[in-house]
Amino acid sequence: MGNFVRAPRSERERELLEASAQLLPSAVTASSLSPLHAMVVESAKGCRIRDVSGNEYIDYLMGSGPLLLGHAHPAVADAVRERLEKGSSYLLVNEGAIELARAITECVPCAEKVCFNNSGSESTFFAMRIARAFTGREKIMKFEGAFHGMNDYALMGNQWTREPVAFPEAVPNSAGIPEAVQGQVRIAPWNDLETTRALIEAEADSLAAIIVEPMQRTLPPEPGFLEGLRELTRQHGIVLIFDEVVTGFRLALGGAQEYYGVVPDMAAICKGIASGYPISVLCGRADLMDHADPRRLAQGDHVRMTGTFSGNSIVCAAALATLSELRKPGTYEQLFTTGRTLMRGLGEALERAGIPHSITGEAPAFQPWFSPEVVGNFRQARAADPAMDARFGALLVDHGVLKAHEKFFISTAHGEAETRETLEVFGAVADLLAEVG
Ligand SMILES: Cc1ncc(COP(=O)(O)O)c(C=O)c1O
Repeated sequence: MGNFVRAPRSERERELLEASAQLLPSAVTASSLSPLHAMVVESAKGCRIRDVSGNEYIDYLMGSGPLLLGHAHPAVADAVRERLEKGSSYLLVNEGAIELARAITECVPCAEKVCFNNSGSESTFFAMRIARAFTGREKIMKFEGAFHGMNDYALMGNQWTREPVAFPEAVPNSAGIPEAVQGQVRIAPWNDLETTRALIEAEADSLAAIIVEPMQRTLPPEPGFLEGLRELTRQHGIVLIFDEVVTGFRLALGGAQEYYGVVPDMAAICKGIASGYPISVLCGRADLMDHADPRRLAQGDHVRMTGTFSGNSIVCAAALATLSELRKPGTYEQLFTTGRTLMRGLGEALERAGIPHSITGEAPAFQPWFSPEVVGNFRQARAADPAMDARFGALLVDHGVLKAHEKFFISTAHGEAETRETLEVFGAVADLLAEVG
């Protein structure tokens, strides 16, 4: 089965893939994609995506998470269409941006004030900058294996390909990150509160913030872990930042902070807001967010935070339409029912085929690990078999099911028929996987 690069399915697709290999450094639009995603998309609607060769897949990649309502949801498309003739980027405040900010403060428990950015990486970066301005301290603690985007501070301690180092040392996950930044980041073990407590206590006076994915990738927090972080950060005057780029609006209307019942000081929210239109939100306590107020310039604690496209009116319209769909009764029940059925069905198929595995996550975003050990933290996750996972992904694509590199992202567009179809594919693929090993 080679290196699991999906073969082009038509001459047209072969030509386009060759052109992309010449023009784009990784031949794809995101370097996080795996070889099984070597395809050229023609269009997508609901939970189905079509390649230029005319093949259709049930999509669980879902743009890596933003399409909570599925591709091209009619209410979102209508809202965007309506705004198109009225201009897009004004830099100035507009009614849609105010309405969206209000909606976010109503839904998200920590959100007293809101700033708009364009990507998750920007919002996590600005959250850390505000925390430094607020506390007058410089260091940031994050958890091993957590991903907070592409900024220099975030891209540390997520080293899948290297042997882990001792806590709290930070290893950059990219070339080109200044050594000085490395010294400002501290790494702690996810789901190990006692070790984390000791690491915090050793450096509390220099820690500005702890940034955490409240569900780290697909590893949920153990009972008491987030509560413990909340207590420790409060005790030591450290800002607690939830990276809800994935979990925001996905686990609940109020995100993971509502779902797990722990309220941070600030949160970066991104993928769930606008059905695939580019926006992210940094929200939180007013006394923190107010550092972005330029009237503080004279005081010397103003945090620069601006972007040309922030508050773009078309994107705000897409977000407002998305939120009004998400607010409809029964939306999250449906999302969770679909996800639970698929998680259970996948587990049963792998079990029947005698394949050791562990499935982690919450129903709206989950993943299998090919490991006999139950996976609860990054080091256990590293012990799972990546080759088996690659074979699994490639077999799924052959059977018309597309997943993300790691996760299955569920949307409200995945209906009963697609769920049944996917369960049949799980059964067939698990049997094949058991044969090939
Ligand atoms: C938890 C988390 N934080 C931050 C990011 C970065 O977001 P973006 O790709 O929009 O910059 C991602 C992206 O996948 C993410 O999963």
